[in-house]
Amino acid sequence: MDFIKVTNPYEKHIALIELNRPKELNALNLQLMGELRDTLKELDGDDDIRVIILTGNERAFAAGADIKQMADKSAVDMLMIDQFSTWDQIRKTKKPLIAAVSGFALGGGCELAMTCDMIIASETARFGQPEIKIGVMPGAGGTQRLTRAVGKAKAMEMVLTGRFLSAGEALDYKLVNKVVPVEMYLYEAVQLAREIALMSPVAAQLAKESIDRSFETHLDEGLHFERKNFYLTFASDDQTEGMQAFIEKRKPEYKGK
Ligand code: HXC
Repeated sequence: MDFIKVTNPYEKHIALIELNRPKELNALNLQLMGELRDTLKELDGDDDIRVIILTGNERAFAAGADIKQMADKSAVDMLMIDQFSTWDQIRKTKKPLIAAVSGFALGGGCELAMTCDMIIASETARFGQPEIKIGVMPGAGGTQRLTRAVGKAKAMEMVLTGRFLSAGEALDYKLVNKVVPVEMYLYEAVQLAREIALMSPVAAQLAKESIDRSFETHLDEGLHFERKNFYLTFASDDQTEGMQAFIEKRKPEYKGK
């Protein structure tokens, strides 16, 4: 891996992925995205891992797709490169994915943060879709996820002017879960990960899938999907353990089975 680092620095259930092209503000070139896709797939299949944190560095989460790599491409080149199949794979990650964002989260960087399930931001975080300033528009979900998160008016303003949201605005507009001082953003993401890692991984996966489904469907179908996943949790040992532990007034020990 040249452009990402994967470690387990906190506990065995939490994986940390760091985007690692600092000189280029973690611009998302094709190799980096391929490495990220492969890593997430591997972590998704690793029984020890329950939560994944994705981060950059203090200056930048990611300043977007690599403009230098795209500059001379034709529409047909872009079609044949088909970078979005990589993004589609990333979106299919089953385990809870937390973005820990400091500094720039722009263009594809903002879209990548929004592809995660939750965002913890530092006070220095800046979110934006500035593609319009370089003659293009968002292509990895910016017009869709941003609109769902912040509403039409703000999404239009951001996408049509390229204006950034400050961390405080991102919190006001419900784009992020929490804003903390810059020295705390990773710590805060880890605290969130630890809390989730104590829960049943089976229930967490089914719950994530159900919430994601709410964006794809109408209420009746979404409720039906939720109900099936609810029933499915009763096929897990974790359901027995969780309910038994409650009755016995002790802490549950989930195995992900
Ligand atoms: C390639 C980039 C880059 C990018 C920064 N760099 N962003 N290289 N692609 N997206 C490089 C710069 O060229 C520079 O390299 C180095 O990183 C440091 O950046 P500076 O511009 O010198 O830093 P600063 O003056 O602090 O400005 C920071 C910035 C600016 C405001 C974030 O870099 C910027 O506007 N970047 C582009 C943001 C953007 O338009 N993103 C959307 C991309 S399109 P050198 O070698 O000169 O030192 C997109 C489409 C997604 O994301 C579609 C789906 C994949």
